[in-house]
Amino acid sequence: MTRRSRHRTRPRSSGTRQDVALVTGASSGIGFAIARELVRQGHDVLVVADRGVDDAVRRLREHSDTRVTGLEVDLSVPAGVEEVIARTRELGVRTFVLNAGAAVHGPFRHTPLENQLRLVDLNVRSVVHLAHLVVPDLVAAGSGRLLIMSSIAATMPAPLFGTYAASKAFLRSFAWSLRRELAGTGVSVTTVLPSATQTPIYRTAHMERTRIGRIPKSGPTMVARRAVDALQDGRAEAVPGLQAKAMVAIASVLPQPARAAFHGWFYGPAAPPAGLSR
Ligand SMILES: NC(=O)c1ccc[n+]([C@@H]2O[C@H](COP(=O)([O-])OP(=O)(O)OC[C@H]3O[C@@H](n4cnc5c(N)ncnc54)[C@H](OP(=O)(O)O)[C@@H]3O)[C@@H](O)[C@H]2O)c1
Repeated sequence: MTRRSRHRTRPRSSGTRQDVALVTGASSGIGFAIARELVRQGHDVLVVADRGVDDAVRRLREHSDTRVTGLEVDLSVPAGVEEVIARTRELGVRTFVLNAGAAVHGPFRHTPLENQLRLVDLNVRSVVHLAHLVVPDLVAAGSGRLLIMSSIAATMPAPLFGTYAASKAFLRSFAWSLRRELAGTGVSVTTVLPSATQTPIYRTAHMERTRIGRIPKSGPTMVARRAVDALQDGRAEAVPGLQAKAMVAIASVLPQPARAAFHGWFYGPAAPPAGLSR
């Protein structure tokens, strides 16, 4: 079979009704683009984020006649996770896109502990908690799909971005382990490793003046389409786009100290535009 260079056409909402999908962190960025792609394909979608859900639901409804509902919860606390699971059980969700994530940038010793721990609670704890509640239901039903949003940051240490990179390495390892454990149950686990993607995360994490903040980025639509293709094919991993593939290839040949130096460079300050002093 030839490699796909363009997005494959999947059923649209006017065709077959697809199952119900949950997308966390779907108010913006990659999560919103994934939700839009799932809606376009005819899935009913439950959109979860801690803010901006009504607006996301309204914009998604413009794309299709499928049922789009929203839930505004803070997933960094266990009660938020439990609320989401209660709703997914009511709706009979079988496709789970665990995408919500946050970033903290800066020297570890100067960033507030509270922010670092909130990142761990959201990026790591909430995914383990959600998966632990969801997987037994899916195994009992004999079918289901899980997408866990990692990052190319999983492949290298990241000075000035260390907790984030470690959280994404955790997710990648966790997803592969879970996938293997669930082989033969009808439940697939897919992990996605995007490289720098144009989303609000660079603004919210105050990274606009870093090198990574300034480099050309992938579009969230491309990332979302590759992610959804991999999810629906039940593939283990998607690395969307050439930039991401190049980063993974570089990481695979560098020794660990060189990985830390190379990757850390991206999180340092970008040179100011010529003629401007800082
Ligand atoms: N952009 C990149 O370069 C890149 C690369 C690789 C991987 N990723 C990963 O892709 C995922 C999506 O990030 P993005 O780049 O699309 O950034 P984004 O636009 O900032 O999206 C993050 C999403 O997570 C939600 N969220 C944040 N804190 C939450 C909380 N406590 N409870 C519930 N929802 C919460 C956000 O909602 P609010 O805005 O309402 O807080 C938003 O919907 C993340 O896991 C990120 O690590 C991003």
